[in-house]
Amino acid sequence: MSNPENQEKIEINSSPLLKVINELHLKYKSLTEGTLANYIPELAKVNPDLFSICIVTVDGQIYEVGDSQQLFTIQSISKVFAYGLALEDHGRDYVLTRVGVEPTGEAFNAIILDEQSKRPYNPMVNAGAIATTSLIKGAGATERLNRLLDMFRRYIGHDVFVDISVFTSERSTGHRNRAMAHLMLNFGMINQNIEEALDLYFQQCAVMMNCRDLAVMAATLANRGANPITGEQAVDKRYIKDILSVMYTCGMYNFAGEWAYKIGIPAKSGVCGGIMAVVPHQMGIAVFSPPLDSRGNSVRGVKVCEELSQRLGLHLFDCSGSQI
Ligand code: DON
Repeated sequence: MSNPENQEKIEINSSPLLKVINELHLKYKSLTEGTLANYIPELAKVNPDLFSICIVTVDGQIYEVGDSQQLFTIQSISKVFAYGLALEDHGRDYVLTRVGVEPTGEAFNAIILDEQSKRPYNPMVNAGAIATTSLIKGAGATERLNRLLDMFRRYIGHDVFVDISVFTSERSTGHRNRAMAHLMLNFGMINQNIEEALDLYFQQCAVMMNCRDLAVMAATLANRGANPITGEQAVDKRYIKDILSVMYTCGMYNFAGEWAYKIGIPAKSGVCGGIMAVVPHQMGIAVFSPPLDSRGNSVRGVKVCEELSQRLGLHLFDCSGSQI
């Protein structure tokens, strides 16, 4: 849990939050490092200058700056929410037999399984996410997709849609993910119907949202699974600790250790250029800026979160207090 004294300061006078994100937006706008994800051809067409920051507090205040209405596909950030649904569908013990919770220290698309158990290492890397998605219950592909979309609706507060161009772009080029699915089928970690599991995984990655939606989703996780705008329970609160733990240890891939050390809050990135961070019992943070570093994390997103964490005293283990 984060510092109660910081929470008090932020809630009593919340306008500094807007000031801080405006300053960070201005400061990092000129940072043009990084490259667009081009292994999914549709993602390479995105405007690299798009940039937005949004914070949603657990009492439903929204602070946003920049292109916060711009839609993008959620990509790997979806893995967090699919993991929650799989936990609700099967319970913690069963899900743990199919997907581990160990960081890999490897790239998000590494073709590795745990030597002994043959499980994928964790639900945040591609192999683990495909296995997780294959666990989602439903009588057929349409029902499974509808259950996923309805879950996103609960987190965001409005209907969501799949970007068909991004979905088909990834479906026709996702050979590496297909190879991982075959490897897991070989070890009995996912069932026979791998094309259906892959389609659902590619569809969840192609769900469209904007930066504000992403911050509402993060705030829902911060708010014990209840959407702070609509009040709807998006996920069973028993699983919040599981979800946030894997985000904290694995959400930023082979940058997860440094992220935990420097920034110190559970987070998840996607090759869309989004980063979502959760400050338990306080707020959800989202940054969108498409150019990525070598680990697949948004360059501006990492910088903004690092400075936000320092200035607001958000690091879960920081005892020195807020700077604003
Ligand atoms: O499976 C993939 O490669 C993409 N749909 C998602 C990867 C992703 O976002 C990794 N994030 N940094």
